[in-house]
Amino acid sequence: MDIPAIMASGPVIPVIEIESEDDAIPLARALLAGGVKVLEITLRTPAALGAIKRISKSVKEAVVGAGTVLTAEDVRRALDAGAQFAISPGLTIDIAEACADGGLPLLPGAVTATELMLGRKHGFRNFKFFPAASSGGAAAVKAFAGPFADLKFCPTGGINPDNAGSYLSLPNVPCVGGSWLAPKDLVASKDWDAITDLALKTQSLRA
Ligand code: 3PG
Repeated sequence: MDIPAIMASGPVIPVIEIESEDDAIPLARALLAGGVKVLEITLRTPAALGAIKRISKSVKEAVVGAGTVLTAEDVRRALDAGAQFAISPGLTIDIAEACADGGLPLLPGAVTATELMLGRKHGFRNFKFFPAASSGGAAAVKAFAGPFADLKFCPTGGINPDNAGSYLSLPNVPCVGGSWLAPKDLVASKDWDAITDLALKTQSLRA
């Protein structure tokens, strides 16, 4: 799946920080049951790569990627684990090259006009707008549609069910990212039904 298809697959990409590999498969299945099939596992915990490995091997309907990709080495580790895409809070040439070399679709982060122009110069047309809420929110993303009519955004950071609609109503926002779909307390208590409910509720967020 390429980045446009990943961004079109649903209104919310869950940003997952996973503490235990054992939770990976039930969590992926819970989100899938709620209609969420694209999963971003952030490389912020020791369990992240193992979680990607387990999901890519055992939950074939899911599309699992690595988030918080900060270095080319992260890209290689994500590829080895079976990640199908990478998301970075920013963009470096090292990361772009490692993804291109490995055939891994990359959604890089950008929040300023200059960052967008640099990313665009390197061939990117889709960006993670991060951190969204503190970088101007939906008003900033809306303003980018003027000069950057060919760019699309996945705003992430400070987005929740109450404000997601203000982003998703914009024509240049196919999806948003958010950690609220896999809250740590629900994962710790293995309340998979509650996570499926959260996922189901995202399906009506797009205006
Ligand atoms: C991210 O890593 O993309 C963000 O930290 C997620 O932000 P949120 O926790 O505000 O959804």
